Amino acid sequence: MTKTILVLNRKGGCGKTTLATNLAAGYAANGSNVCLFDQDAQRSSSLWAGMRSEAQADITLARSFDELSGMDHDVIVIDGPGGHISTKHLEQMVARSDVIVVPLLPASLDAQAGGQFITELVTNRLLRATPKPVAVVTNRVQLATTTHEQMLHLLHCLNVPHVAALRESSVYSKAIDQGSSVFEMKTNRAARKEVRAWYELVDWIDTAVASSAARLPLAPKVAPKAGTNADATSRRLPKAAQPAAVSTAAFENRNQA
Ligand SMILES: Nc1ncnc2c1ncn2[C@@H]1O[C@H](COP(=O)(O)OP(=O)(O)OP(=O)(O)O)[C@@H](O)[C@H]1O
Ligand SMILES: [Mg+2]
Repeated sequence: MTKTILVLNRKGGCGKTTLATNLAAGYAANGSNVCLFDQDAQRSSSLWAGMRSEAQADITLARSFDELSGMDHDVIVIDGPGGHISTKHLEQMVARSDVIVVPLLPASLDAQAGGQFITELVTNRLLRATPKPVAVVTNRVQLATTTHEQMLHLLHCLNVPHVAALRESSVYSKAIDQGSSVFEMKTNRAARKEVRAWYELVDWIDTAVASSAARLPLAPKVAPKAGTNADATSRRLPKAAQPAAVSTAAFENRNQA
């Protein structure tokens, strides 16, 4: 089954490309067949992919939904556009995704815009009809600061899970400049320090996708036969449909970092 991860926030410069490129490289380095779907007019992730060397794990690049439809991948990472996004474009990306990750900078203007964007996202008619896991990654964070604490409080009030905090670090601009990722910069101390937060994010993504795939409809589609007591509330989940265990296979070597 293809796992499609949408990285999205209307706010420019919050870390969408940083998240999308590192996630794509992380899954690819671990043996997954990965497609990076660049939906931003600035083409930053396409430029990043163009800088990757032969020695690095292969990542296929897609620029349009037409291109994507003829492909078969284990993981698709969508690098969403910044700025204005039409409802049609938003819904196209949401419909294609299994899980949505919103990067957010811990700054007051970003908190305001981010809060509005998350509300708009989760109340979109597509997500109301077919809920999908949505989570926030705070980016360029200085841990244990009041601004970060205030951001976490806001997310708590919005009832959106906060799944990882990425620190402010020059390793991210280095990774972008070199077509690389924190997962691949094994000799870089700052990258090794950051990897733990990425494993938290990957764990959340893998678990969220597995759990929503295993979710059953809330009510039976066929009415129970007269004379039986097989109503909606007494139905048990069939064994095969029980939520899958936490997937740790994708990044087996995560604990060695
Ligand atoms: N944790 C971080 N520490 C330091 N610099 C970072 C971090 N995350 C991102 N950056 C830098 O911030 C800038 C913006 O990041 P990025 O391009 O990922 O944002 P974006 O949301 O994709 O922007 P846009 O909306 O323009 O597409 C880049 O120069 C990137 O290297
Ligand atoms: Mg970008």
